[in-house]
This record gives sequence, structure tokens and C-alpha cells, in this order.
Amino acid sequence: MGNAETTTLAETLGRIDRLAEYSCSDSRELTRLCEIACDVRDRGVAGDLVECGVRNGGSAAALSLGLPGRHIWLYDSFEGLPPPGPRDGAAADGWAGRCRGTEDRVVAALEIAGARDYTVRPGWFAETFAARPAPERIALLHVDADWYDSVIDSLERFHPLVVDGGTIVLGDFGHWEGCREAFYDFCRRHDLKPLLERYGHSGAWWVKGRGHNRASLARWDMP
Ligand SMILES: C[S@@+](CC[C@H](N)C(=O)[O-])C[C@H]1O[C@@H](n2cnc3c(N)ncnc32)[C@H](O)[C@@H]1O
Repeated sequence: MGNAETTTLAETLGRIDRLAEYSCSDSRELTRLCEIACDVRDRGVAGDLVECGVRNGGSAAALSLGLPGRHIWLYDSFEGLPPPGPRDGAAADGWAGRCRGTEDRVVAALEIAGARDYTVRPGWFAETFAARPAPERIALLHVDADWYDSVIDSLERFHPLVVDGGTIVLGDFGHWEGCREAFYDFCRRHDLKPLLERYGHSGAWWVKGRGHNRASLARWDMP
């Protein structure tokens, strides 16, 4: 899982441990994110890395460890979460304004990962998603923005730009009902049937265009 020829596994894991301080996710979940990014790298998928819901940058930095050398686009209000909506469930009450990050901490997290090629778009998605320049070709999209509206808006904006074979990660699929509903509504709207993979208690991811996992089994065509 080393991020480049010159980086050892131990060094990468050491950096992930330091990044846990910059993330809602623990080292184990950040390691899974890094592995998911490594898979994108190993399959030679072209494009940028995009994260919607950055907070202090820990997950973006862990992803960039696995997929180094890509431009990173970072979208966050830096004012914490917006108010939840009707589809986000009673447990979401009182969360507006929480999970507030700072751009300084994002820069510090990216420094730990050695990432220097990035664009931070501070503000609400409704405004910043229209800002130019913007990503044109995405290899890895991480949507970690909790609420139904934020998740579905992120998917509507960036999913079309994910290249075939690119990976989409939802950080809140198992944690927040609104994220899960946004995923299923988005799929229904666009007639998609992603092969959903899970990690940790909350994460879900899929590879755009992949309909089965038979290729990962060496001997599947046994008599
Ligand atoms: C759970 S935190 C992200 C955690 C982060 N990925 C990490 O590694 O710790 C969710 C973030 O989404 C941002 N967010 C959610 N909805 C948003 C919206 N509509 N516009 C801008 N930022 C939003 C919040 O500001 C918050 O920082």
C-alpha cells in the first residue's frame, strides 16, 4: 500500500496514524480509504480526486496517499454541517454547525500526505459547485457530506464526470439514513444498479460501470 515507489508500507501507515487527528474516521477506516485509492491507482484509472465534505482534510489526505500525483478538488463550507432536512431522520436533529473544519488544518493534513497539487473551494455546495475551473475527469469521488441534499447534489454534480472504471465512495451510507436514501434515489433517477461494496460501519463504494466481481476470483469457471 506504499503510495509511491519510494514510500514503504510502514511509512504510509505511520502517516495515516497522524492523519486520524484530522478526520472523523479512525486509522482503520483511513487505511481502507487509502486501499480503495490504491486500487484506483493500480488499475491505471485516469483523472482527478474530488472530495465533497472535507472538514479538516484527513480523509482527502489518506486518499491522496493511495492515489498520489492527482489534482485534488476539495469542497466544504468550513462552517460545519448545514441544517438537516426531512429525509435525514430524527437522529440528525441538532447537528447543524457541527463538524466544522478549517482550511489551515486541511493544508496541514495534505502536507503530511505530501500532496501539493490541490484546489480548496470554501463555501456551500450550491455556490461552489458552479465555480470554475472545475474537475473535468474524475478517477475517485469521495462524498462525505452526511445529509440527503448534500449527498445527492454531490452525486448529480460529479458522478457524470467519473470516468468508466473510476470509484465513488460514500462515507455516510451506513451512518445517516439521508445519505443512504440519496444514493438509492440517485440510482433510481439515473437507472443505475451499482455493485455496492462496504467498509467499516458506514462506508460504501462502487466502481463505475462494473457489474460483477468475477475477475477477482482466479478460478470461477470451474466445471
Ligand atoms: C463528516 S464531515 C467530513 C469529514 C471528513 N471527510 C473527514 O475526513 O473527517 C462533513 C463535512 O461536510 C460539509 N458539508 C456538508 N454539507 C455541505 C454543503 N451543502 N456545502 C458545503 N459543505 C457541506 C461540512 O462542512 C463538514 O465539514
